[in-house]
Amino acid sequence: MLTLLNLLKDGRFHSGPDLGGALGISRSAVWKQLQHLEAELGLSINKVRGRGYQLAAPLTLLDPLRIEALAPIWPVAVFDSIDSTNAEALRAINQGRPAPFLVLAERQVAGRGRRGRKWVSPFAENLYYSLVLRIDGGMRQLEGLSLVVGLAVMQTLRKLGVPAAGLKWPNDVLVGRKKVAGILLELVGDPADVCHVVLGIGINVNMQNANEVDQQWTSIRLESGKNCDRNVLVAELSEQLRAHIQRHQAGGFSVLQSEWERDHLWQGRPVSLIAGVSQIDGVVLGVDNQGALRLKVDGVEKVFSGGELSLRLRDDS
Ligand code: ATP
Ligand code: BTN
Repeated sequence: MLTLLNLLKDGRFHSGPDLGGALGISRSAVWKQLQHLEAELGLSINKVRGRGYQLAAPLTLLDPLRIEALAPIWPVAVFDSIDSTNAEALRAINQGRPAPFLVLAERQVAGRGRRGRKWVSPFAENLYYSLVLRIDGGMRQLEGLSLVVGLAVMQTLRKLGVPAAGLKWPNDVLVGRKKVAGILLELVGDPADVCHVVLGIGINVNMQNANEVDQQWTSIRLESGKNCDRNVLVAELSEQLRAHIQRHQAGGFSVLQSEWERDHLWQGRPVSLIAGVSQIDGVVLGVDNQGALRLKVDGVEKVFSGGELSLRLRDDS
């Protein structure tokens, strides 16, 4: 099915016999595959008698060779369809694949967000990116790492035409109130000794409609007005991650703390911190040198950290 898509991706018309000839299948088999492309991948195909078939909008698919040429940093594996790039990365770690390496996919059928939520992951529209690192420097190398990843993602978005991208603790990237990227870190092994961390990053790239997303969201395309080549995005993101992770490993989170606070959209704002059923109201003071959230609660500074915490604005101030 994806071989057919590779023939159609130029956005030109291709006749049924030409497609059948190239794929070594009958015209009716071509027709079946076209229907499958529409139903399975949500693609729209123009069918014009006498001219053939054309993708309604040309597609640029992820290309590992181009990515490795643009940013020769980490080996890349690209999947057409996968449950979750994080899940695939964890399987590869368990099979002994040496880190670092990168897993990308055109779509995820079980994309995961934080706290068991679903990450909406349509075919060829967005970026689903999981970077695996081996950590053998103990806990210090993990402190604040998810915030550092947020900073790298935000800088990438700013470079690619979204100047208003900013951060929300711990690691969401927003434009105003709208989410443009999410980050999910998963860990295997002993964090105090040797472990592997999967840095899972989802960026909304060319997506313009998504009824299934149940919160405010946006994409690079919606913000910049331009289509974004995801291969260029991957290369820029990898460069930014490499640079930020290097700084973090050399000096710990404290060297990035003030940079992070400068771009925190909710700095100084009244918020509620939700932890399961309990809620703490306070005002955001910033983050400490390990990336934990500093809140002023009833006039007293308190510090919060942990993967299950969720921050909400208390008003529209
Ligand atoms: P918090 O972590 O503070 O609760 P959040 O509300 O964004 O922030 P997360 O668990 O971080 O929650 O993210 C998962 C949520 O993201 C999902 O519940 C869904 O509402 C939303 N979501 C899913 N897919 C996308 C997408 N492609 N773009 C933007 N948002 C999405
Ligand atoms: C969140 O904001 O809740 C985190 C979303 C993380 C989504 C990315 S997409 C690539 C990687 N694979 C997944 O299944 N999840 C992360």
